[in-house]
Amino acid sequence: MKISLHELQEIENIRTKEQNLIVLLSKNGQKSSFFDVDLQTILQEQGFGGEEGRFLEIKNFAGFKSVYFVGIDEKNLSSARAFKNELIFRLKKEKNIAIMQHAGQDTNFFTEFVKTFVLRGYGFNKYFTEKESNKGLSAETVKIFVKNKSECDLSAIEAQIGGIFVARDLMNEPSNVLTPEAYVEEIKKLEKLGVKVTILNREQMHKLGMNTLLAVGDGSNNPPYLAIMEWEGGTKGEKPLAFVGKGVCFDTGGICLKPAQGMEDMKFDMGGSAVVVGLMNVLATRKAASNVVGVVALVENTPSGKAIKPGDIVKSYRGKTVEIINTDAEGRLILADALWYVEKHFEPKMIVDIATLTGAITISLGAERAGIFSNNQDLIDKIFKIGEETGEKVWNLPLGEEYNKYLKSDFADLRNIAKGKGAGSIVAAKFLQQFVKESTPWCHMDIAGLDAMDNCFCIQSGNPFGIILLDNLVSSFE
Ligand code: BES
Ligand code: ZN
Ligand code: ZN
Repeated sequence: MKISLHELQEIENIRTKEQNLIVLLSKNGQKSSFFDVDLQTILQEQGFGGEEGRFLEIKNFAGFKSVYFVGIDEKNLSSARAFKNELIFRLKKEKNIAIMQHAGQDTNFFTEFVKTFVLRGYGFNKYFTEKESNKGLSAETVKIFVKNKSECDLSAIEAQIGGIFVARDLMNEPSNVLTPEAYVEEIKKLEKLGVKVTILNREQMHKLGMNTLLAVGDGSNNPPYLAIMEWEGGTKGEKPLAFVGKGVCFDTGGICLKPAQGMEDMKFDMGGSAVVVGLMNVLATRKAASNVVGVVALVENTPSGKAIKPGDIVKSYRGKTVEIINTDAEGRLILADALWYVEKHFEPKMIVDIATLTGAITISLGAERAGIFSNNQDLIDKIFKIGEETGEKVWNLPLGEEYNKYLKSDFADLRNIAKGKGAGSIVAAKFLQQFVKESTPWCHMDIAGLDAMDNCFCIQSGNPFGIILLDNLVSSFE
């Protein structure tokens, strides 16, 4: 689905009985000269006063098939994202959808609605052979009518939408299709946008000593890869911002096999990597004025005769030895080597890693927020604030010294899960912290659970949470 931009006057050209129109209306709000009827009276009769979150469909109105009045509170940006999914469901089969900006309506607010509407309209329909089953909106283009075309730049939201759709397509692919190898081919497509892509295969990683990554990846018949994506939009030679993503194309748990119920959602365990790939796509599309490197570790976690077993000890790329107590805590093992790779080869001025790392984070924060853990208060404050503004919200959890003892092993430098119970997400973050330099501002974002849940931007699972947030984070450095 795409969007096209038009001047408000041009709306006359589409005023037909096949056309649906969406109009935003604030409580006791704008009088519109567009509708040559007493709109307030009609809406009052229908019992609709533009209340936030509510909408009203009036069929056969003002020369259109249906006009949808969506209630908003223009003073509050989040209300541009508060409309009910029912709006999407009603418009599902419609080919002609337009959204109109009132003469007095704030452009920033209006474009936030447009972005949210289009993002919620996404459906992954590749494998339905009957159109009836399709999800999401069927309109190919949503026409946007604005009061001043030259003052309304939709390119930034179009870039975000494009990158998010790429990431969702990747997440929704099943693991029999999106093997690490097939994923690499998808990542190479970023080269067309000017991103430099470097791929390390298992032999190259073996030579480097990336053994915690290979300990996971070598259990599968589908070999592991590390993909490095570089966008150089900033000053030549300036150290990059780095993003590192967990790309477990399927997480069975390995020898510590997961229970069957809900295991199908583990195809989303590459969600963090999809966020990084989607983000690189956004940055290259909007030609971000920053140097950014994205690194994703792509593996499958499966049991086999070659798979790691509880009690096995491996030496990480950084040199620290790890006793693998639970093979289902694999995300931290692959990220450990990916984080050290980015530290060693890029000396980044900041690292954010994104991962569907622990079920425990869903217990803490549910579907509403991602957990963040960081060694730098400024970075926490920045990310938190951007989250509140953009709608991809986070919550900071602790990372204190007092948790170090949880990771002490009897046989190696570290164990990959805690000795006792509790603090599962914090312990995972503490593990990752062992693989970044103390001097590097670093933030770990745990998006487990969010990958398979809906939010204001995404109503079908396969949700690459964080692209909007991180795109804004990069902008804040530009
Ligand atoms: N991929 C899972 C985390 C996960 C759980 C993502 C639920 C999405 C939904 C991760 O690899 C994992 O299995 N973590 C274990 C860690 C445990 C063994 C310490 C978990 O959360 O149970
Ligand atoms: Zn796991
Ligand atoms: Zn996992």
